[in-house]
Amino acid sequence: MRVLGIESSCDETAAALVESPLRVLASVVASQIGLHRRHGGVVPELAARSHVEALGPLLESLWDGGVSDWDGVDAVAVTQGPGLASSLLPGLAAGRALADRLGVPLYGVHHMEGHLLSLFLSPGIPDPASLCPVLVLLVTGGHTALVRLSAPGQYEVLGRSIDDAAGEALDKGARLLGLPYPGGPEIERIAEDGRDGSLRFPLGLPTGEEALRRGGPFAFSFSGLKTALRNHLLREPGLPRADVARAYQEAVMQTLLRRAAEALRSDGGFRALACVGGVARNRKLREGLESVAKEAGVPLVTTPFEYCTDNAAMIAAVPLLRPLAPHVGFPEPDPNPSLQGATLR
Ligand code: KG4
Ligand code: ZN
Repeated sequence: MRVLGIESSCDETAAALVESPLRVLASVVASQIGLHRRHGGVVPELAARSHVEALGPLLESLWDGGVSDWDGVDAVAVTQGPGLASSLLPGLAAGRALADRLGVPLYGVHHMEGHLLSLFLSPGIPDPASLCPVLVLLVTGGHTALVRLSAPGQYEVLGRSIDDAAGEALDKGARLLGLPYPGGPEIERIAEDGRDGSLRFPLGLPTGEEALRRGGPFAFSFSGLKTALRNHLLREPGLPRADVARAYQEAVMQTLLRRAAEALRSDGGFRALACVGGVARNRKLREGLESVAKEAGVPLVTTPFEYCTDNAAMIAAVPLLRPLAPHVGFPEPDPNPSLQGATLR
């Protein structure tokens, strides 16, 4: 079975062909970072037009390596949400048109489920039945959560951010520091030259009743951190930017690591720790998670670097890993920006 995946939820247009047992045959991503950079963030109208322009040539380019052709496609999977409505629409329309033309089923996929299951794209990984239950730290630009993955399709959110996501905190922090979008890799880059210990930012570990009700027992909160950075820059503008970036990154990563360690300790049943999403590219976070996993005596699984940020291989992987009801009828599935009613929110 070979699934063609399409992803266009935000500022990356992506297509991929994935087969079962899980193997990526081709994966292409057209990034719009250059387009949005001068605006300091994603501009929805520019993103939508760019998806429309990029999708056709990108889909054709899947066959450049000669791995397959249109006749080798058994199903189409396309991101249905969450995301920007105007970005989701071109991908959904392309998916609908292709599925009709090829006479194959069409699956609408939850973007976050794609990120979660991207951990199974690691080469040589055991099959889900022997790896689960896994504690997954899901860290993207819009979401931060600790999820118990009992099997593909069975997820329980143990903790989530009650305000900004970790990636968002890095993107907003970078902006305050005068660094370009996206901020995570920029902060990581300049923090390399920073010194430890010149300042410290508060961790985002809320304990109040209301926070725990909204965010679960392992709730995160990153909006105070951003405010602390703003206040610091007003109070002490003279400190080297690399030192400030290093301390800021440290606070974000330590927050994630503390909660992941607590969640692992709280339940002896996890067989592995995993990290997925764009922020999983961060070296400090990966190193920290290695220690957390080692201490708990479980292996750490990280998504391959190229499948951490948005891609279509993770979208195509979803219907290959679990049964999913195909979309029937016309028109294409509605874009669902907040994907209400899905198993994972
Ligand atoms: O998963 P993703 O591509 O998109 C969403 O679904 O949101 O994640 C993008 C996020 C951005 O916030 C970006 O700053 C962050 O991932 N990111 C990083 C790194 N590379 C990307 N954060 C920290 N360190 C990195 N190396
Ligand atoms: Zn994403």
